[in-house]
Amino acid sequence: MQYKTINEIRSSFLDYFKKNNHKIVPSSPLIPYNDSSLMFVNSGMVQFKNIFTGEEKVDFTTASSSQKCIRAGGKHNDLDNVGYTARHHTFFEMLGNFSFGDYFKEQAIKLAWDFLTKELCLPKEKLYVTVYHDDLDALNLWKKIAGLSDDRIIKISTNDNFWSMGDTGPCGPCSEIFYDHGDKIFGGLPGTKDEDGDRFVEIWNLVFMQYEQLADGSRINLPKQSIDTGMGIERIGAVVQNLHNNYDIDLFRNLIAVSEELSKTKATDATFASHRIIADHLRSSGFLIADGVMPSNEGRGYVLRRIMRRSMRHIHQLGVREPMMNLMVPYLVREMGDSYPELIRAKDLIVEVIKQEEEKFGATLSKGLKLLDTELSTLDQGSLFSGEAAFKLYDTYGFPIDITKDIVEGKNIKLDAAGFESCMQKQKEMARKSWVGSGEKIVDEIWFDIYNSHGATEFLGYTKTKATGNIIAIIEDGKNVTKASASDKEIIIITNQTPFYGESGGQMGDIGIITNDKDFTIKVTDTKKYLGKLHAHVVVVEKGSVQIGSSANLIVDQKHRNELRSNHSATHILHYVMRKHLGAHITQKGSLVSSERLRFDIASPKAVTKEELLLIEREVNDIIRTNTLVDTTIMSVDQAIQKGAMALFGEKYSEEVRVVSMGPQDDHSVELCGGTHVNATGDIGCFKIISESAISSGVRRIEAVTGNNAILLFQQQHGLLEEIASSLKSSRSDITSKIQVLIKDKKDLEKNVTNLKQAILISSDTSLVEKINQINFISDVSSEIEVKDMRKWAEDLNKKHGDAIVIVVSTIGGKSSIVVSISDNLVDKFNAVELVKIASLKLGGAGGGGKPNLAQGGGSDITHIQDAIIAVKNAIR
Ligand code: ALA
Repeated sequence: MQYKTINEIRSSFLDYFKKNNHKIVPSSPLIPYNDSSLMFVNSGMVQFKNIFTGEEKVDFTTASSSQKCIRAGGKHNDLDNVGYTARHHTFFEMLGNFSFGDYFKEQAIKLAWDFLTKELCLPKEKLYVTVYHDDLDALNLWKKIAGLSDDRIIKISTNDNFWSMGDTGPCGPCSEIFYDHGDKIFGGLPGTKDEDGDRFVEIWNLVFMQYEQLADGSRINLPKQSIDTGMGIERIGAVVQNLHNNYDIDLFRNLIAVSEELSKTKATDATFASHRIIADHLRSSGFLIADGVMPSNEGRGYVLRRIMRRSMRHIHQLGVREPMMNLMVPYLVREMGDSYPELIRAKDLIVEVIKQEEEKFGATLSKGLKLLDTELSTLDQGSLFSGEAAFKLYDTYGFPIDITKDIVEGKNIKLDAAGFESCMQKQKEMARKSWVGSGEKIVDEIWFDIYNSHGATEFLGYTKTKATGNIIAIIEDGKNVTKASASDKEIIIITNQTPFYGESGGQMGDIGIITNDKDFTIKVTDTKKYLGKLHAHVVVVEKGSVQIGSSANLIVDQKHRNELRSNHSATHILHYVMRKHLGAHITQKGSLVSSERLRFDIASPKAVTKEELLLIEREVNDIIRTNTLVDTTIMSVDQAIQKGAMALFGEKYSEEVRVVSMGPQDDHSVELCGGTHVNATGDIGCFKIISESAISSGVRRIEAVTGNNAILLFQQQHGLLEEIASSLKSSRSDITSKIQVLIKDKKDLEKNVTNLKQAILISSDTSLVEKINQINFISDVSSEIEVKDMRKWAEDLNKKHGDAIVIVVSTIGGKSSIVVSISDNLVDKFNAVELVKIASLKLGGAGGGGKPNLAQGGGSDITHIQDAIIAVKNAIR
């Protein structure tokens, strides 16, 4: 047997299968994209699941990979054992080869046997195999290919030799290859009472995939017989390196050496477990963070947090009181980055996230441990550790229950798990009672019930817009139902996980489609968020019918999401730039981010001037064009405020916040925000303010558009200018002067028209000329002549006839206006003022005024005009 490092073993394996016509497929991320029933990818075949079932078609029929796997949380959970056994890990790599209806048992056995005995040169006499008890084919093939005698082939009738991925999915009988670590190690062959010992270790599992396990418990045949194999690299590494404990392989030795150095504590019998846990958990934490999982109090994020905190507790146990785990990240990257470049890409993020968790937990860890010790000191071996104390440790000091259990059981004291559970339940009840929600009690009850039985919806939408989910609740008319069929009715669907963003923090919900190609197509018209934890898809079932338990593909409308992201990120930049220019007293009063536009309200005593708006708009665009990456980090509220994040008034923050920073180093926005954002500011494209207005006293509202909507607006307005220019027969740049000329021309024309109109009215003489006492008495009535033009009208008539007394009446404006004009040679006999007075009195007026030759008066009456004229005539007879 030739010594090989872990990295060399991985390469030999992949090279070997490549040589044997397998397509080498990279590891998939740890979060299954095609199966919502799994928390983490737990074996190499997960990414190929739909190929086995025939749902997905690919252009290759054989494959080989080295797959990242996590077994912590979910069906396969090794967390509690890690550190205390030779072979349990939360994270491990599974080497595998796969056939999708290509070769079957014979070739699978041959390939495996040759790799072990010819490539790795394992001594044949050290190898044993198991087969499923009724799988005589496999038994005979092992004899034929490997020449194994009957006593080296063990028939197993339990599920140990029937492999399934989870509660559903492809499965089949399997055959496992065991390695004998020698009689110095305790343990028996598989199927014997000592099988759990460490002497005979399973190194490779060959699964003869034949069935698919369905949710209803039935099992159907796969379209084609297939092969799935899995060999943990850590186990085969131990064999190749002639070791009996996985943690002694080069990769772990190197990590443990770092842990020894940083903690200044040698790995001895007393400290081995801690060092191993630290090294193991560093791997799972690093890989999970690189794949987008962030520590939280729910779902996958909580598994990550439990893993990190478990490691931190062991770092503390080694006597270290400063953050240490984050310092080990570069060494993890050194060991594994070449094979998994995502570690190199995410290195800074991993360091940062772990460091923050260390600082956060560090603040309560010592206090919690003191409480634990005090509590323990009152107990004897074999007694029960109170569930209430465990709950206090969980609730106040952030101790995941497995840490408490680990410490307590290490002292041979049992933990009152039921007591702990009942405290948890009580807390949930209290939360339910004190919830001030929508006010619709019945509806809120539903959300609590769903949350209490299923936990929070795991939101996958920060990194994905497509994912699978399991339907956990269907709500119709405010009631839980188990099934819904196609109709026009709006219902609500909740899934265990979703990439759909639920409306919150001013950002509107996602729209899109939920489908399970065979059974249903559902249109998502909106997504809401309830209790701050449940993402509720508001939907219409368009085709087929959907029921609780169905698994579905959740597909967010990407264009709509991109518009939301772009408008949301632009809002942050706008906020930042406004504060920069208008002063830090500017506070956000509200914000709404829709796919079409963004709306941002600020408290400001005065309007933002046009010049300020232009400047702000330009600066927002300047930051957009820096195309800097948007950074999102989860941290404590205090850390966030230290970082300069704007803690917004009136917002309620849980103990942890997501901090979103964007813009260049020396000119950037930092905000607490749970929304979805662009990757880099350049993705926003461009930004255009469309209005600034007052919505109430002291509150101004800015509305703006970004990206494609801004472009559409520019195009529309440009088109409008073109149209105007062409109507004006001018160029765009001359439009304003041309319009000013037009306005002036229009005013002049109006004036001319009025003058002409008056001239025409006056010249089209309709006056009545009579002779009274040798005097020309002229009277005229019009409904159109303006009051201001009446004197001219009277005087013109006077001039025209001479020796005259003229009376004109205009009823314009609905009342009577009177002017009397008397020729100069008659002024000594008649007085215009008196005559106007006579006429006015007849028309409901009080008199009038003027000079003896020209006077003006009027009244409100327009029905007695002739009487008024007659009265004047009588006065001069
Ligand atoms: N899928 C099989 C296992 O994980 C190979 O053991």
